[in-house]
Amino acid sequence: NPDIFLPPQVAWATGALAGGPLIRKTTRLADLPGIFANSEAWKCGDPQQSVYDVDVLGSPVGEGALFVGVTHLHAGRVGDEFFMTRGHFHARREQGEIYFGLRGVGLLLLQTEAGDARLEQVTAGSVHNIPPFTAHRLINTGSETLSSLAVWSSIAGHDYAALAEGFVLRVFAAGQGIEVRHD
Ligand code: PA5
Ligand code: NI
Repeated sequence: NPDIFLPPQVAWATGALAGGPLIRKTTRLADLPGIFANSEAWKCGDPQQSVYDVDVLGSPVGEGALFVGVTHLHAGRVGDEFFMTRGHFHARREQGEIYFGLRGVGLLLLQTEAGDARLEQVTAGSVHNIPPFTAHRLINTGSETLSSLAVWSSIAGHDYAALAEGFVLRVFAAGQGIEVRHD
């Protein structure tokens, strides 16, 4: 029926997006210098290894327009530290964001401009309302890919430089469990 638009689809079980224009950005180990605590372990890793892939549906940009995308954060570690995204504030600090856990297990690390940090557990079906003025990073604490759908303002932008000092919390594998360390 020509009156009915067939929208893009997300496969809830995998986070795969299809049926629309898609832009994929892959972030490899080589793209993340200074991010992980153990720089020697980072140097020993395969620089070409994909740490995470972000798929974003092509959509209009401008005041009020929203983006939707899926981050696939692979399982892995640098030394004992779990794979994670670079993390960022939005350039437009007042813009929040919504994350939904789709598959895998991990943590969403949130940090305010004052440097107060907290962790939310990410699982299939979890809903995360990232407040304004709050930096955010995904951490994969599991053994399969962590996939998370995000919705954010097209005007939010990414400010990576503001986090040059990094987040105040780090998450490491410890035995069968995890250990949270405060820098
Ligand atoms: O908009 C977001 O917050 C996400 O889509 C992230 O950009 C994505 O998870 C990748 O993280 P980062 O931009 O910190 O590399
Ligand atoms: Ni964001």
